[in-house]
Amino acid sequence: MDGHFKDKVAVITGASSGIGRQIALEFARRGARVALAARSENALKELQNEIETFGGQALAAPTDSTDSTQVKHFFQQVINYWGQVDLLVVNAGQYIRSPIDSITLTSLQESMAVNFYGGVHCILAALPAMRARGSGQIIVISTMDVKTPLALDAPYVAAKSALSGFADVLRQELHGSGIRVSIIYPGRVNTPMLDTLKVPAISAKMPSSSVAAAVVRAVRSGRARFILPFQANILYWLYLISPTLADWAALKFHLQGWETKELK
Ligand SMILES: NC(=O)c1ccc[n+]([C@@H]2O[C@H](COP(=O)([O-])OP(=O)(O)OC[C@H]3O[C@@H](n4cnc5c(N)ncnc54)[C@H](OP(=O)(O)O)[C@@H]3O)[C@@H](O)[C@H]2O)c1
Repeated sequence: MDGHFKDKVAVITGASSGIGRQIALEFARRGARVALAARSENALKELQNEIETFGGQALAAPTDSTDSTQVKHFFQQVINYWGQVDLLVVNAGQYIRSPIDSITLTSLQESMAVNFYGGVHCILAALPAMRARGSGQIIVISTMDVKTPLALDAPYVAAKSALSGFADVLRQELHGSGIRVSIIYPGRVNTPMLDTLKVPAISAKMPSSSVAAAVVRAVRSGRARFILPFQANILYWLYLISPTLADWAALKFHLQGWETKELK
């Protein structure tokens, strides 16, 4: 068992699928008690059963993170059940894309609701329990698109940038409190979220286990920022040095990919 995880209570949002599911399994295998949130009850129950089969402890609670009342209720359930929250992984999200010319207020609001406010609701609900114990860690699953924005991603990037900015400020305000904040910036990941997106070889989709491994490293080290995979760091530095050159590279390599469904 891993001392960073053993008997810790970890809340993972978006645990019904992809990256969140993988993080929940990794945490539970290391001895954490995992509270699983998402809207799909059956998928959460299936994951809970899988975790219990190998001797882990899980609590599945269908929760829509865009609804602050449901989120508060979920955290109260976790506190009632296990009495504490040590780790929060803010992972629930949706890839809402639209060309700027046809962007609607609705698509922006939908993206903000899940990718920004959904995360903020969870952070605000978890903080009092962490403050009370003077310890904890909040890990936000952002996206590399925030560091080097890609064409067609305006609704998604706007909301994820807001959440990353919120989390960066939070880390400063929590300095010295015993509560750490880490942000993970993954490139393309092979999950249902990208089922309809073909990507160029240079930004090939990594397995969700790579992101879960980075989250495990974040818990062990407390480091503030993880950018993955390795080549994403090159684009990150290029963007800092010359946004014009980074834009050129993004367009040249068609990093926005090819949608197999029509965008709204
Ligand atoms: N895939 C990528 O290439 C990639 C890259 C960088 C960052 N990310 C980020 O990684 C996170 C996980 O994405 P993924 O790739 O694992 O996608 P995914 O397989 O589609 O999983 C998304 C998860 O979010 C949950 N979710 C969506 N809306 C929700 C809501 N309103 N309330 C509660 N849960 C909600 C979904 O569960 P329900 O539908 O059951 O509610 C699901 O569990 C997202 O924040 C995404 O932006 C993904």
